[in-house]
Amino acid sequence: MKIMVIGGGGREHAIVKKLKENPAAEEIFVLPGNGGIAKDAVCVDIAATDLDAIVAFAKETGIDYAVVAPDDPLVLGLVDLLEAEGIPCFGPRKNAAIIEGSKVFSKNLMRKYGIPTARYEVFTDMAAALSYLDTAPVPAVVKADGLALGKGVIIAETREAAKEAVRSMMEEKKFGKSGEQIVIEEFLTGPEVSVLSFTDGKTVVPMVSSMDHKRALDGDLGLNTGGMGTVAPNPYYTPAVAERCMDEIFLPTVAAMNAEGRTFKGCLYFGLMITPDGPKVIEYNCRFGDPETQVVLPLLESDLLTVMQAVTNEKLAETPVVFSDRSAACVIAASKGYPEKYEKGAGIDIPEEIFPDVFVAGAKAENGKLLTSGGRVLGVTAVADTLSEAVAAAYEKIGKVQFSTMFYRRDIGRRALQAKED
Ligand code: AMP
Ligand code: GLY
Repeated sequence: MKIMVIGGGGREHAIVKKLKENPAAEEIFVLPGNGGIAKDAVCVDIAATDLDAIVAFAKETGIDYAVVAPDDPLVLGLVDLLEAEGIPCFGPRKNAAIIEGSKVFSKNLMRKYGIPTARYEVFTDMAAALSYLDTAPVPAVVKADGLALGKGVIIAETREAAKEAVRSMMEEKKFGKSGEQIVIEEFLTGPEVSVLSFTDGKTVVPMVSSMDHKRALDGDLGLNTGGMGTVAPNPYYTPAVAERCMDEIFLPTVAAMNAEGRTFKGCLYFGLMITPDGPKVIEYNCRFGDPETQVVLPLLESDLLTVMQAVTNEKLAETPVVFSDRSAACVIAASKGYPEKYEKGAGIDIPEEIFPDVFVAGAKAENGKLLTSGGRVLGVTAVADTLSEAVAAAYEKIGKVQFSTMFYRRDIGRRALQAKED
């Protein structure tokens, strides 16, 4: 079977490594992939947003199955285009990917169907947003409607800062069209939990929960990043919380999408906050998270290709999806300066024996050497019986990786370990 994976980060590397466990996955092509993924699959230099080139490649190559991992091609409708050519896909169609593509859509969906989330107002007019902020409670959370490379959310401590955020989105158009509409919402408190789920539109199967570490520096200081590390499972996601999430959030969301004629098939990611009033949705993603995937998939005991195909064929109810009850930790090594300006081109040294646990995100191959080419360069994952062992093992392994501009957080998992003791 010829499989095509769209994307080129650590998440895609984790997906590729897992798909390869099935001998039916004879050939895996990754578009565009990266220098590290190239050790596990054939990388093809086509951008994840070049939809026409992707479709042409898939037809020429005789791709049997496609996995579309990143948000942009999903929101742009790549799955619809591939399906029109008869190529089965893992990932939602355009009309369902809007659950991530438009925050206004997702907030209105939650309001219409009574799914718990922060109170909010939508604005298309800047003057109206600014005058609303004259009396709105602070902190206020200002969100650009569309995709904004994970940077479209501003938590403003003061009314003036909130107004500044509104102006940056609606007047300076910092996020382009994504900021033409904005959401201003209530600031919620509580621990955050990421729950990725498989859904075929009929059944929803949550994967093991995880905890991201979004800030660049230890102690949750520094700027927001794409994610500097993850652990799974997330101790705040107790069986009681999981039950409430299933009844109040997961099943109602899948039903709401069906009722809107937007059946969601693929990986639906629930970004949750466990507030004093119960679990609430912070955001939906229409795809696997990065770096959540790097801890979740290593704990999946079932065959990933089989589960993905069951989602595509709407047979998830009959397909076992089993996760290990062990723990996993992933530490991201980034280039100094990330998420702002950083250098590229440093040589990366990864000992062969740990490569199976390394997920390469930002690296290119040149003359047989791996060089840094992105902010987040790679992640190293360890699985163990307990979370503290997994964290220790991940740090031991990342200590064997070297590049001159490397930095990583030293406290991945600390908060989760403290929560377990409370
Ligand atoms: P997002 O880009 O939607 O993942 O949001 C980035 C981060 O902003 C989230 O992970 C939360 O930590 C925070 N956040 C978003 N919305 C809220 C909210 N209503 N209250 C508190 N924190 C929020
Ligand atoms: N790690 C958060 C995300 O993938 O959106």
